Order: sequence, then structure tokens, then C-alpha cells
Amino acid sequence: MAVIGQDISQAKRILDAGELVAIPTETVYGLAGNALNPVAVASIFETKNRPSFDPLIIHVPSLLVAHKYVRDIPKPLRKLAEHFWPGPLTLLLPRKNSIPDIVTSGLDRVAVRVPDHPLTLELLAQLLFPLAAPSANPFGYISPTSPQHVDAQLGSKISYILDGGKCKVGLESTIVGMEEDEIVVYRLGGLEISEIEGVVGQVEVKSHSTSNPQAPGLLESHYAPAKPFLIGDLETLILDQKKKGVDFAVLSLNKEFDSIPMENQIALSPSSDLKEAATHLFAAMRTLDESNVTVILAELMPETGLGNAINDRLKRAATKG
Ligand code: TXA
Ligand code: MG
Repeated sequence: MAVIGQDISQAKRILDAGELVAIPTETVYGLAGNALNPVAVASIFETKNRPSFDPLIIHVPSLLVAHKYVRDIPKPLRKLAEHFWPGPLTLLLPRKNSIPDIVTSGLDRVAVRVPDHPLTLELLAQLLFPLAAPSANPFGYISPTSPQHVDAQLGSKISYILDGGKCKVGLESTIVGMEEDEIVVYRLGGLEISEIEGVVGQVEVKSHSTSNPQAPGLLESHYAPAKPFLIGDLETLILDQKKKGVDFAVLSLNKEFDSIPMENQIALSPSSDLKEAATHLFAAMRTLDESNVTVILAELMPETGLGNAINDRLKRAATKG
């Protein structure tokens, strides 16, 4: 198992040596390595079992430092960065040659963000390179929102997890770029569309395409628990499972079912607060996946605020067919 601690100098030593450290961010934990070192970046792909066509986000301590690695920041995107960094926003920007091909899977744009976590910002400020970091989970599984989640799955492959506690947003960053003059959202995430539109006006959301050349990582099946995960109307799903005599657990926004044992049900936010629901989502999915039921039943969230981003994750976690 990995050491879980708060020693920034230790994390820096490991990263300086070209090895990997799991880092906390406000969204999810990242599996970080020196983005300028192709060997370190290759070991990120290997550790996660991630296909090499799925590019990585680089993390920098500030907008000022981001300029070192990109040729240009179009004005609307600069406005977004000024408003929301540090925060759950990733920008796709034309990369400079110092960013190795392996980081972007050969694409001309590099994904950049300034994460909002004091330990990671301090670490980034001390490093002479940006950190390439995908979510610190095996490819295709649920993203980690605590050091224990990282340790459970990658603890045998990395030596250190920087302990920043539980992630306060709990959903990955919203990914934004430009096509001609249009502002495009490629992945729904922890920064709401309405907040983005409040700063730059209307945007186009393209995050649902299945074979997506612009954001190859947005595969239809992702964030998936090992158990069958069914989404729909909970009353109907529960009746079906009862008829079949199958053991199940229930994931809802705010419901409590008298007929189901408490340990087999999780309400993400009893007060229907979608930010709170987002914070708990991935941990709840893990807890139910590790419980001893056979099937997990879940409902979609209202389509407002972070509800759309949560639904995106639930739909991609759902068992297909
Ligand atoms: O909140 C987050 O974004 C977290 C934390 C650790 O920062 N990171 C994260 O990374 O979610 P990852 O690798 O799990 O997801 C990154 C997504 C992938 O879907 C990838 O395809 C897309 O960003 N992406 C990265 N670079 C890209 C690029 N150059 N062009 C298009 N899409 C890109
Ligand atoms: Mg991921």
C-alpha cells in the first residue's frame, strides 16, 4: 500500500525523480507525473491501464504559468480562466512544443487547469514543471474522491498519496475550448454551464458524442462500477428486482425507502442540494459496489445546475443493453 501523508517535500522528491504521486484536487484525486518527461507520462498511462489515445490534463499553479506552455489564450477563454481559476475548469489551448506528444495523444491542443486545493497549489508552485494528471483510478472505473479510494486501487503501484482529505466538488472539471468563434463545452463537470455563460455568453455543449475525436476520453462507458448498475424510475426498478428475487441497493437524490435495509440505500442529498449530491456521488457508488448486493439501482437527477453533469456520469456508469 502507498504512504498517505501531507509531506509536500516528499511528493516533490518523488516527482523530481520522474515517478508518480497521487494528488488532491477539489474535483477528484489525480495520478500525477512530470508533464515534460515522456517517460513519467508513459508510466501514468501504464499505471492506469489507460489507452494512449486518451490525452491528459496538465496542472499549473496559475494563469501566468499556463502561458509558458501554450501559444495563445483566446480572449473568452482567458476571461473564464480569470474568473474560475483556481477551480473546476479545464481549457483546451494550442500547445507549445515543450509539451510532449504523449501528453496530448498528438493533438494540437493541450488541456490545462489550475486546481483549487492548497496542498497541490503549494506543490505546483515548488515544481519546475507542470503535472500531467488524469483521475487516479484504473481506466473506466469510478473516479476517486478520497486518499483511501486511491489507495484501494492504485496503492500497490505508487509510493505516495498526498492527503488533502475528501474532494469538495466531487465531479471532474468542466472542459472548454473554442472552435472558430464558438465556445464549446466538451465535458460537463464541476463548473456549471450557467456560471460559464454568465461570464462569456452562450456556449455549445458537445459532450454527448460517443466516438468523439475532440475529446477521445469521453467514451460512452466510463465511471462504471463492477456490479450491474441500472438507472430509471426507482419504484419500477425496485418492483422488477423484487419479482426476480434479486438483492439490490438503491442510490437516490433524496429518498428513503422503509422496505429496504438502511445499509442498502444512499440518498445523495436529503435536502436535494445538487452540489452536495455531486460531492457524495462517487463515494456512494463505490460503497454500493463494495456492498454484498447483486445489483445497484439509481435514479437520474433534476436537469438543473450540477444535475446534468451528475446524470452524464450516471448514464456512462450504467450497464448497457
Ligand atoms: O477534474 C479533473 O479534470 C481531473 C483532476 C485530476 O484534474 N482530471 C481528469 O482527468 O478528470 P481525466 O484524464 O480523467 O480526464 C481528462 C479528459 C479526458 O476525457 C480527455 O480525453 C480530455 O480530458 N482531454 C485531455 N486532453 C485533451 C485534449 N488535448 N483534447 C481533447 N480532450 C482532452
Ligand atoms: Mg478520468
